[in-house]
Parts: sequence; structure tokens; C-alpha cells
Amino acid sequence: MSQSAQNKRKILVTSALPYANGPIHLGHLVEYIQTDIWTRFQKMRGHDCTYVCADDAHGTPIMLRAQAEGITPEELIAKSSQEHQADFAGFNVAFDHYHSTNSSENKELAEYIYTQLKDKGYISRKSVTQAYDPEKEMFLPDRFVKGTCPKCDAEDQYGDNCEVCGETYSPTDLINPKSAISGATPIEKDSDHLFFELGQFEEMLKDWTRAGHLQPEIANKLDEWLSTGLRGWDISRDAPYFGFEIPGEKDKFFYVWLDAPIGYMSSFKAYCDKHGINFDEYWQQDSEAELYHFIGKDIINFHALFWPAMLSGAGFRTPDAVYAHGFLTVDGQKMSKSRGTFIMAKTYLEHLNPEYLRYYFAAKLSSRIDDIDLNLEDFAQRVNSDLVGKVVNIASRCAGFVVKKFDGKLASELSDSAQALYDSFTHESEMIAELYEKREYGHAMREIMALADKANEYIAETAPWVLAKEEGKEAELHESVSVGINLFRVLMSYLAPVIPETADKAKSFLNLESWNWDDIQQPLLGHEINKFKALMTRLEMPAIEKMVEASAESLAKAGSTAPDGKKGDKKPVKKQLVAGELEPIAEQITIDDFAKIDLRIAKIINAEAVPEANKLLKLTLDIGLEQRQVFAGIKSAYEPEQLIGKQTVMVANLAPRKMRFGVSEGMVLAAGPGGEDLYILSPDQGAQPGMRVK
Ligand code: 2FM
Ligand code: ZN
Repeated sequence: MSQSAQNKRKILVTSALPYANGPIHLGHLVEYIQTDIWTRFQKMRGHDCTYVCADDAHGTPIMLRAQAEGITPEELIAKSSQEHQADFAGFNVAFDHYHSTNSSENKELAEYIYTQLKDKGYISRKSVTQAYDPEKEMFLPDRFVKGTCPKCDAEDQYGDNCEVCGETYSPTDLINPKSAISGATPIEKDSDHLFFELGQFEEMLKDWTRAGHLQPEIANKLDEWLSTGLRGWDISRDAPYFGFEIPGEKDKFFYVWLDAPIGYMSSFKAYCDKHGINFDEYWQQDSEAELYHFIGKDIINFHALFWPAMLSGAGFRTPDAVYAHGFLTVDGQKMSKSRGTFIMAKTYLEHLNPEYLRYYFAAKLSSRIDDIDLNLEDFAQRVNSDLVGKVVNIASRCAGFVVKKFDGKLASELSDSAQALYDSFTHESEMIAELYEKREYGHAMREIMALADKANEYIAETAPWVLAKEEGKEAELHESVSVGINLFRVLMSYLAPVIPETADKAKSFLNLESWNWDDIQQPLLGHEINKFKALMTRLEMPAIEKMVEASAESLAKAGSTAPDGKKGDKKPVKKQLVAGELEPIAEQITIDDFAKIDLRIAKIINAEAVPEANKLLKLTLDIGLEQRQVFAGIKSAYEPEQLIGKQTVMVANLAPRKMRFGVSEGMVLAAGPGGEDLYILSPDQGAQPGMRVK
């Protein structure tokens, strides 16, 4: 018996609330797609699963953005909410309710939680010295003060940390600080702030973070923080601020991060009020309902420390789990506005089918917090080979015969061997369900595609197109195509959480009522299907290229200000250099970015020309721990013999690249514009193969 038939679970699921001052981009969508797949899966299993979200509508950036646009914050957040919901709907992300943190429900709950925390002695008051803009007459959040780093002298750094040397400091430590709003030199000013005394929750949090609610890598990280002790968390901001005024205080507002997670509750509250659901049943301390938050790895503290402490301090239940995911890179790099890989949801939807991306993300996602890469060529290849080539193809190969030769009716019984094949597909149902449950979507997709391969083998072996031409083979033909359609149905059922729009079309084609997880246990026999219409077309590279171009153009039009209000990416476009000219300095990276590159001393133990390639040499490198094969574009600059025995530097953790001649397992470093004018880098004497270059 399936898990769903045994017990119906009450599950509440959330994704992080997007800020109301910028559009949704593909980076955001990793999370919404990941969560949406999970909630659709739970619903298919028959559970009572509710997925809520909202716009995160408060804070200084939203207040300033509205001012800059000459509208009220309320107008700005209404516009954002509409745009966000359209983008989410475009990607088939199906919230049960979408709300706003600037809502009466959220105000009431934020005030209630704060009052509870205050009454129980968890709120303290302390004077804080902060940067203040004398022209704008407002306190400046750290990100709104810019100046020269006190450690490395890098200019134009934010007030909280230096993006060049990684130093963290407060805005008052900056040399020559300026307000990013007015340009005025900030002064220091004192004011009273309210603090949530996290220290009082240390024991509770130590237990909670180790009790299986978090991914192991996160629990370990939090262990480190918890062992150094927890300080109070500043939850108030002074006027002017766009947010909720703190009860009993004058001109003080809740910090945006105080009422943001409460937005999960208030969105659900609005949903409960609309549908007559008991809110307390989900949020009371001994609740039997399950609560899961899907978030990005950058906002773990808020969800795995502050939030459980707030909930428990105010007498509510804590989450069953907080599931973090990694960031999105495109073609192995951070999304970049100049390269056109900072792709807005809207731009994507103008060019490509959302189901492609949902499938690709699913194929890449696991329960871990590793970043995932959208490799544009691999994207097209994977979608075409798996969805179009393996899955949809089964239906298109079989449907015509069923409709033309058998009046659209599937066979009314199956031979033992056909039934056994069918059973071998449904046998995987619980294993695939478990993978979805554990958010191991990539693994689930591999299992499903292995079944798709098996279905295609069956069709190739039974060859309905041959049977159709032979006399007296009607029964065999009928079974072959009926099995094909039935296997297609099983595959589509397994994929329905990932590609719901395609599954919907398949539902009409198969003449089905719904996609319940257990329905496939019985094959469709004697069942009438409809005429087949294309369910999905191939993803062509030119369409992707057009989307990338459109992304670059739309951001160029938007000027140097990126949608999130940060300065635009002004990386110069790569151009051909003339002799003697030096390349401009590349886009700035942080020390953390640099630390990701593993450079090693490598000894070239063999070098040979690649006959089919004009520019490449095939190098065999000894890096102490192992040998690597690298194809380097240095043929015009070196004879292979010159290189053998030489030491150089290689990037050892570059993802292997499949080339026409073999796999390249890294890259050697060389300087110069190219052609003959290229010089591989060599270490001083004494360096040994495998030493890390720092
Ligand atoms: O990081 C962000 O984009 C926040 N707006 C997420 C808020 S999640 C929740 F706590 F509201
Ligand atoms: Zn610095």
C-alpha cells in the first residue's frame, strides 16, 4: 500500500518572500521551482499540502526605490506584486495563496509576536551609534554608506564589508565615507534600538539545530556559530522607514527581517480566513501539521536561528525543516548582466517554454546546498534528448496507430509479458516517490529517464510500424501501441510535478481526469484516447541565443542600475587586441570567488599535437596527487618537445570539458594576446608538482 493511502498529512510549505523592489530572475526560480515540484508531488500523493508565499514589502531600499520612481511605497509594492505573480504563474509555480508583508494580517501577527517576546522578557533596549545622513535626515543602513576600505584602501566599498579584501567592519570605519543616497558625509548619531535577546535561546537552538531539521552541512556551520555565543539581534529601525510601527514606541519600526518570516504565517492566515481553515491547528505548539521552509543558503541565520527562536519565544511551533539550496550560475559563472546571462523571468518566458527550465533544474537539483549550473548548451541537449526524444516521442510514435487502426481504443487486455513490463514500471513508484520526498530530484529524473529508455527499447523491438504493414498482426500491433501509451502514461505521471503543463496536455490526450500518484497501478485497458497533438517542441539553440541577447539589451536599456538597485555590471565586452595593447582589467571578484579557484603546480610529462586541431596541444600533467589530460590552445606558441619536463600552473578544479578529441581536465595558465604571442606561466625553482598556488 502506498504511503499516501496510509495517512493523509497536513503540510504547509513556503518559499522565501521576494523583495518588492525588483523583478524575478532565473536565480530566484531555482527555489520556486524546487518548492513547487515538492508541493505538486505532495498533492499528487493525496496529502493536504498548502503552498504560500508573499512579497517582502518593507525596508529602506523599497522606501527609497518608491521615492526615486516618484510613487508611494504602496504603489510600488502593488506593481511588484502583480509582476511577481505573473512571472510565477508563467513558470507554473502554483501558490495556494500569495500575500504581502504589508498587510493587516502581518501587522497583527508581528505586533502579537513582538508583544509576547517583550512580555516574556526577551526584548532589551540599547543605545546604538550609527551613520546618519544629515541631508536626508535619516539613519543609513550599512549598504547605504560607501567609502574607502580601512584595510586595503579599495575605493567605493559598502559600509559592512570590503568586496576586495573581504574585511568586515562598520560604516564608521570607512575612510572618506559618503551617503549613497545624497552623497553627504554621514555623521555619527545615537539612538535607542530594541534587541531580541537571542542569547536566551542558546540551549533551545543548540537542540533544535541538531535535531534533524536542517541539512547536515548547515547544522555543522551553525554549530560553529552557536559555540561562539549569540548576541542580541537589533529588530528596530528609526523613522523614516517603510514598515510597521512598533507598539508602545515613537518613530520606531520593525526591521524588515522581523516581519518578513511572519509573512509566512500571515499569508497562510489570509488563506485560512478565505477557506475556513483552522490557522491554530497549523501553528500551535503541539501541532501535528508539518511546516517546511524552502530558502536560499544566504538567509540561513534568519530561518534557522532567529525564526525558530521567535516562534518558540512567542509560543508557536517551530518548523519541521528548513531546506536550503545553492545559487544559480550560468555557463559556470555568476549571472552577468553584460553577458546577458542575468535573465529575468519575463525575458525567458518571451522566448522559451517554462517547462524546459523546470525539467533542467529538476535534473540538476539534489537535497544538498551546492550551486547549480545552467549550462546553456547542455540545457538544450538535455531537454531535447530526454523530454522530447525519450518521453514525448513514445506517445507520438504510438498514438497515430491507436487512433487510425483501433478507433482510439487501447487494447482491453495485456499478455503476461506486456503486463510484466508494465508492472516493472509501476514497481518503481515508491522509490521515485521517496526521491521526490527527499528532494533528490536529479536522481529521480535519472531513474525516470532509465525507464523511458526501456519503453523506447520495447517500441523499437516490437516495431509497430512494421506490424502495421503485415497481414494478421493486428492483435500484436494493438498490444505494442497500447503498452507504449500505457508506459508513456506512467512516465508522465512520474514527471507531472516537474512539467505540469505538459502533463495537463497529456491528460487531455490520454482522456484522464487527474494525475493521482497511485492511479498508474492499473493500466488503461479498453480505454479511449484522443488524437495526439504535439506536447512539446525541441529547444533550439538560436532561441536561447535570442533570449540571451534580449537579456543583455533589456539591461542595457535599463541603464547602469540593475533591477535590484545595485550598480550595473560594466564589464567591457571582449574585443580583439592590437599588438602591444593590454586587456582591460576584468570584472571585480571577491576574495571568496578567488578562493574557489584551486591552482596547482603541474609538471608537463607529455605534450603532443592534436592533428585535427590547429591550435591545440594535448598535455599530460603531473599534479602530485594524480595525472591530468589538458588540451591547451598554445600550439602556435610552442613545439610540444619544448614543453616536456617544464613546470607550469594549472586550474585543477575546473569542471572537465568534453571536446571533440577527448576530455580536458583543467586549464594551464598562459599570458598574452594569443597566437605566437603566448607564454605559459612557470613557477620559480623549488616548487613541486601538486603544490597549491595561493
Ligand atoms: O532575501 C530575500 O530576498 C528576502 N526577501 C527573503 C525573505 S524570506 C522570509 F523570511 F520572509
Ligand atoms: Zn579592503
